[in-house]
Amino acid sequence: MEREKVKILIIDDDPKVSWILNEGLGDTYDILSAKDGLEGLQMVSKTRPNLVLLDIKMPGMEGLEVLDKIKSMDRPTEVIMLSGHGETKNVVESIKRGASEFINKPFDVKEVEIHIQGVLEKNRLKQELDYLRSELKTKSYYEELIGDSPGMLQIKAVIEQVADSELTVLIRGESGTGKEIVARMLHSLSARKSGPFIKVNCAAIPRELLEAELFGYEKGAFTGAHKTKPGRFEMANKGTIFLDEIGDMPLELQSKLLQVLEQYEFMRVGGIKTIKVDTRIVCATNRDLEKALKDRTIREDLFYRLNEVTLNLPHLRERREDIPLLVEHFLQKYYTLYNKKYRPPSSATVELLQNFDWPGNVRQLENIIKQIVVREDENVALDTIKRHSGELTSPSLSVNSASDLKSFSLKKRVGTAVAAEEKALITQALDKTNWNRRKAAQLLEISYRSLLYKIKEYQIGE
Ligand SMILES: Nc1ncnc2c1ncn2[C@@H]1O[C@H](COP(=O)(O)OP(=O)(O)OP(=O)(O)O)[C@@H](O)[C@H]1O
Ligand SMILES: [Mg+2]
Repeated sequence: MEREKVKILIIDDDPKVSWILNEGLGDTYDILSAKDGLEGLQMVSKTRPNLVLLDIKMPGMEGLEVLDKIKSMDRPTEVIMLSGHGETKNVVESIKRGASEFINKPFDVKEVEIHIQGVLEKNRLKQELDYLRSELKTKSYYEELIGDSPGMLQIKAVIEQVADSELTVLIRGESGTGKEIVARMLHSLSARKSGPFIKVNCAAIPRELLEAELFGYEKGAFTGAHKTKPGRFEMANKGTIFLDEIGDMPLELQSKLLQVLEQYEFMRVGGIKTIKVDTRIVCATNRDLEKALKDRTIREDLFYRLNEVTLNLPHLRERREDIPLLVEHFLQKYYTLYNKKYRPPSSATVELLQNFDWPGNVRQLENIIKQIVVREDENVALDTIKRHSGELTSPSLSVNSASDLKSFSLKKRVGTAVAAEEKALITQALDKTNWNRRKAAQLLEISYRSLLYKIKEYQIGE
């Protein structure tokens, strides 16, 4: 397919100008022309040229006025002014009003081409810069570990020390303390940063699928294996693999994992060929691994191998001094994300948040701030905190939204009510157990896996 040519629109009442430029540059560029300002403006909005060459002196609408109109459009086009003799004052004025360049008439086509290339190149660089800036902005939101408390400063120091090494890092901490952010930072601060970051949640993938997911499989290895598929370890080649909830890895897989850690090689399920990978392994867990060792649900040799460096992330209530910073950070994040005007929090709200115990850690705080921004109401914080202290009752099996009232479908009505009740109960159980999901699952008498599934489904804590 032929590449689309760069479009250049010439707005000049003198037909010779566009004729000469078309002759000289028509092979390289797509040259369009308009005979006056009005027609020119219509063509700018219709054809979206990459560049406009605009005559200063024209009957009807003057060049400067056309320039102003182009520059006030949503996505302004770059403009080069064409000026005759004795128009120095207008040239200066047009540059002030946003023109990129000017060319004196009569001109040499070669000279025009050089100016065109210069402006297009500058524009390309500008767009690239804008793109990089926006990338940086989103990245810094997601990869910034906020906190100046002694505990956090120490964590940051260790991250910087070990990020660019091959040491296996084990990140420990309760749910919502920032384990995943730390894992991503270890990757982005290492020489592997341009390689992939592959996350595997060992608790969320059913046991019988986990091996195939991690190591891949050969065609025909089991029913349903219609074609060979590489696993996450292979995908993480030249990058980092993040094994989340490592404490939930089934025993039978732990020996295979150990082998990867020792030799950086393994076989796909049903395979006979040894596959080598070059990947950095980072693990995280919120489980009590010492207890798991005692209960023999985790292999001792694996535990020591994973444990080359351990980062223990502190509970949010152990670093309350970071709360105002985090509040500020999340407010900035969500006001920007939702395109709303930033409003500073009241000191009463910050104080309230600083004194709360945060069973769901930073994730729970982020969630509350998000709701404050979405609903533009700081009382959200108060409500959640009250609910946690048990002052508010959970919604009963009643219909609670206006749209539900319209529906008489028994299935629909009961369905929504059950979902609301389920969500409320799960939230209460999580609150009660300080977001220990294993204990919460026991309390609710459901399996750990189905609890994880429901937390995700109802976006609890998201
Ligand atoms: N120190 C921090 N600075 C900024 N944001 C943070 C910090 N800690 C956590 N967050 C935010 O809180 C949320 C939860 O963090 P993260 O997913 O890393 O927790 P986690 O420890 O992996 O939890 P889980 O065990 O439940 O998976 C994320 O949105 C993350 O961006
Ligand atoms: Mg996590």
